[in-house]
Amino acid sequence: MAKYKIALMPGDGIGNDVMDAAKIVLEKIALDAEYVHADIGWEFWRQEGDPLPQRTLDLLKACDCALFAAITSKPKQEAETELVPELQGKGLVYRSPIVRLRQYFDLYVNLRPCKAFKGNPLNYRDDIDLVVFRENTQGLYAGVEFHPLPEAVRVTLEAHSPRMTAFKDVSSEDLAVSCRIFTREGCQRIVRQAFEYAKKFGYPTVTLVEKPNVIRETSGLMVREARKIAAEYPDIELWETNVDAMAMWLVKNPQDYGVLVSSNMFGDIVSDLAAQLVGGLGFAASGNIGDQLAVFEPTHGSAPKYAGLYKVNPTAMLLAVKLMLDWLGDNATAQALETAIADVIADGRVRTYDMGGDSSTLDMAKAVAERL
Ligand code: NAI
Ligand code: MG
Repeated sequence: MAKYKIALMPGDGIGNDVMDAAKIVLEKIALDAEYVHADIGWEFWRQEGDPLPQRTLDLLKACDCALFAAITSKPKQEAETELVPELQGKGLVYRSPIVRLRQYFDLYVNLRPCKAFKGNPLNYRDDIDLVVFRENTQGLYAGVEFHPLPEAVRVTLEAHSPRMTAFKDVSSEDLAVSCRIFTREGCQRIVRQAFEYAKKFGYPTVTLVEKPNVIRETSGLMVREARKIAAEYPDIELWETNVDAMAMWLVKNPQDYGVLVSSNMFGDIVSDLAAQLVGGLGFAASGNIGDQLAVFEPTHGSAPKYAGLYKVNPTAMLLAVKLMLDWLGDNATAQALETAIADVIADGRVRTYDMGGDSSTLDMAKAVAERL
């Protein structure tokens, strides 16, 4: 029996193109792994009314980790009209399968490294090497939201917060509330993972990105827990920055930062900004990591206009493979893969359209595989 069982979820559109690229590199790496295909995406929504079928969840329970490429998502109404006729009018509601995966398997870490590869013409600067740890299951994305505001919720809020008087003349019909929910454990575990990563990969600082001067209770809890955890890592410095200032610092001095840690929404925003500094969607990979399972993906979507053309940049997908290897503990192979990617980029002969070249998705994957 193979050492690892790994699910491959190509999904939709260019998801298939970049997964084919990943397979070229996986074959060269020859990990002691069994790869199994898992269904996810738009076709399964259309045909079965579920973009993340139960059989995929069951399969993932039996896997060590998964590689996911990209899926297509559409707004509620449009999604319903694309269902096969037998499923229309049954009240089926489309929900993002990747958000569901994160919640179902409690994949609480969203890990997003942003490293500038030497010679990439899309770099903002060549000396950027930072990693964002974004809390992946709570915060503003916890999904506890109201509109209109139910009477019982309103009465309770008014009884417990004097600040509610500012809204006393607004009807409940005209009030929308989204709750930003943090748990102590949620704060602790994301911050701890950030420090562990900094320790393992030799980053001297962890920067907590929040807004405790204004959002006192949730950001405040995160800051207090982070300080306690930081005390356990005397060799790593904890920096605290407000999220608005962080946006400014990331554009001004991105080279000064190492590991960043933040809650769900701030982390989402900061990581997109950071990704653009090192080349954008073709270079941004992420890991959704829990205690039992991890799912690695490029952060781009299914880019329908390029689907099946094998034009897009596979680097983000290949970096997702690199993250997977690190997570499995095979740091030497992960490092070798990153070096091979860096060499191909620095060499500059094989480049996809986004970098100004005309090589195909698979050409680039083959060039990386050859250097491994
Ligand atoms: P997108 O990420 O699919 O593509 C936007 C544009 O970015 C593309 O048209 C292309 O010009 C460029 N691009 C994307 N990936 C690239 C790559 N690997 N190399 C070079 N250029 C690349 O975002 P869009 O167009 O907003 O969404 C398309 C579909 O993907 C939608 O249905 C959306 O819901 C879904 N989506 C899925 C995500 C996921 O699977 N995690 C994330 C984002 C969007
Ligand atoms: Mg995002």
